[in-house]
Amino acid sequence: MFYSDETVEEVRTKNDIVDVVSEHVKLQKRGGRHWGLCPFHNEKSPSFSVNGDLQVYHCFGCGAGGNVYTFVMNYENFSFPEAVKMLADRAGVQLPEPEESEEGRKRESRRARLLAVNKEAAKFFYYQLRTAQGERGYQYLKKRELTDETMQKFGLGFAGKNGAVLVQYLRGKGFEDEVIQEAGLASHSEKYGMTSQFWNRVMYPIQDINNRVIGFGGRVMGEGEPKYLNSPETPVFDKRRNLYGLNYARRARSSNIILCEGYMDVIAMHQAGFGQAVASLGTAFTAEQAALLRRYTDQVLLAYDSDGAGVKAALRGIGILREAGLTGKVINMQPYKDPDEFMKALGREAFQERILQAENSFFFEIRILEGQFRLSDPEEKTRFHREIARKLCSFSEEVERDNYLQAVAEKYFIGVENLRKLVRGYAAQTGLVKPVERPKSGVRPKTSPEDKAKRSQRLLLTWIADRPGLYDRIKKYISAMDFTEGVCQRVAERMFRELEEGKLNPAGIISMFEEESEQREAAALFSADLPGLETEPEKEKAFRDILLSVKKNSYEYHVARMGTDVSALSRAIEGKKALEELGRAHISLD
Ligand code: UTP
Ligand code: MN
Repeated sequence: MFYSDETVEEVRTKNDIVDVVSEHVKLQKRGGRHWGLCPFHNEKSPSFSVNGDLQVYHCFGCGAGGNVYTFVMNYENFSFPEAVKMLADRAGVQLPEPEESEEGRKRESRRARLLAVNKEAAKFFYYQLRTAQGERGYQYLKKRELTDETMQKFGLGFAGKNGAVLVQYLRGKGFEDEVIQEAGLASHSEKYGMTSQFWNRVMYPIQDINNRVIGFGGRVMGEGEPKYLNSPETPVFDKRRNLYGLNYARRARSSNIILCEGYMDVIAMHQAGFGQAVASLGTAFTAEQAALLRRYTDQVLLAYDSDGAGVKAALRGIGILREAGLTGKVINMQPYKDPDEFMKALGREAFQERILQAENSFFFEIRILEGQFRLSDPEEKTRFHREIARKLCSFSEEVERDNYLQAVAEKYFIGVENLRKLVRGYAAQTGLVKPVERPKSGVRPKTSPEDKAKRSQRLLLTWIADRPGLYDRIKKYISAMDFTEGVCQRVAERMFRELEEGKLNPAGIISMFEEESEQREAAALFSADLPGLETEPEKEKAFRDILLSVKKNSYEYHVARMGTDVSALSRAIEGKKALEELGRAHISLD
């Protein structure tokens, strides 16, 4: 789906970036910009800046950046058309029927077909479960103590032993074999033709947050390998960015989210009244999923299996949650294996108790660590204490670190001062506790000639964005052709044209770029700080140096291409002339 440039611009200008960002991030005005904690990485002091004049944002910590569209796309995990739609609604703009490009239309219709075939398959499995062929599956779910209501809520179904029926059914509904295969519902072989992928399994449809069926998990009846079979990744099924049960959990109005290992755990939890339970999709928990959860909560309770593999997964999960800036706690399931078994044995009240007792993730890590040492041996005990010190170093904020230090010292009978000494020693040794240094500008100095050229091109654009009046003074020396680096060239072209027309529009420039990485780069151009120079003559010199460097690079670039590109010769000659003139010229900044 594509909207016209005018529509995209109209919607953008009606959504002030400071307002939109403020709905999600607490911002404070300082020095002409608004600052806050970056929602795209974990930080304790604000390096996320929003510029209301230019309508762009940029994070000096992680490099995230763009205009209001980029923000919404990243924050809400939206596609571009979804972001346009959301912002249009927000500002009360009536969207025209979208203009569709051939390629965009194809991509959208392919996604729509995949969603449609999944939906149809889910219906088929659902009915199968309730027929004689599905009896085995139905009995299995009953034995696992699921009510009819729960089965219905999660749309549970059954794939029978005759795999040909599904394919016939879907064909009858007008789906081509190609789509059925692409959705991972069946595969084709010379010998057997189209055969269903899922066979003799209870089927769990996997829904995205908008309740669309994006894939399936199927559990085998009886013993069989693999126990769970999941749909492959498809254009609509991204296992890293979706969570089972989140379509319900997001509306659960709970202050936390419970992260489980399996589909059955989620279902059992919901049935018991814990509607905030979710699970990853047959793969390990990812940073993308953590970012997704952050939209709904700041506290995640891990309800992983109590076995070795579960503990390992929990330790991994804790790290990911911490990176994403979420508080993690661990629910103790002992003596049961998982939430499903726990719920059956002890019921909802006992589980509620366990939620209240959930262990702080740091103490959980230390407790697991403890199990790896024989504390009766002084040598090992010392090593254990050192490990604690090492872990403490991961808290970059002093107060927080010291609070944990005191708590852990008390819990494990370690002298507080001794532990402090260990931590200091460890920190000095590895430099771990050094405050994280924030780069002063988005432009980092690098060394190779290409990087140098790129750097001066970027800086020149930053200068002009900062002082648009400069353009008139330098335009006889420089043109967009002098920008040899991709993003810079496109920005320069558009920027110079806009300046000619007297209406520079940075946020609009960012909209030109489709790739997120390019949007970031463009936003960085408009957000970077100019080198901290004191006096006007210093600034003038710096600006002239940059201008010369861009021009010189351009000249060399075109000279190098004279052999293959006829117009390069004339450009090189002109460039030489301009370079000489520039060498003599005085360019004042005010
Ligand atoms: P478990 O093996 O612990 O399954 O895997 P479970 O949920 O206890 O299964 P039941 O209770 O015997 O039905 C936990 C989760 O890991 C994924 C599934 O999501 C499962 O629910 N998994 C497991 C797979 O995707 N494939 C497998 O082969 C096994
Ligand atoms: Mn289980």
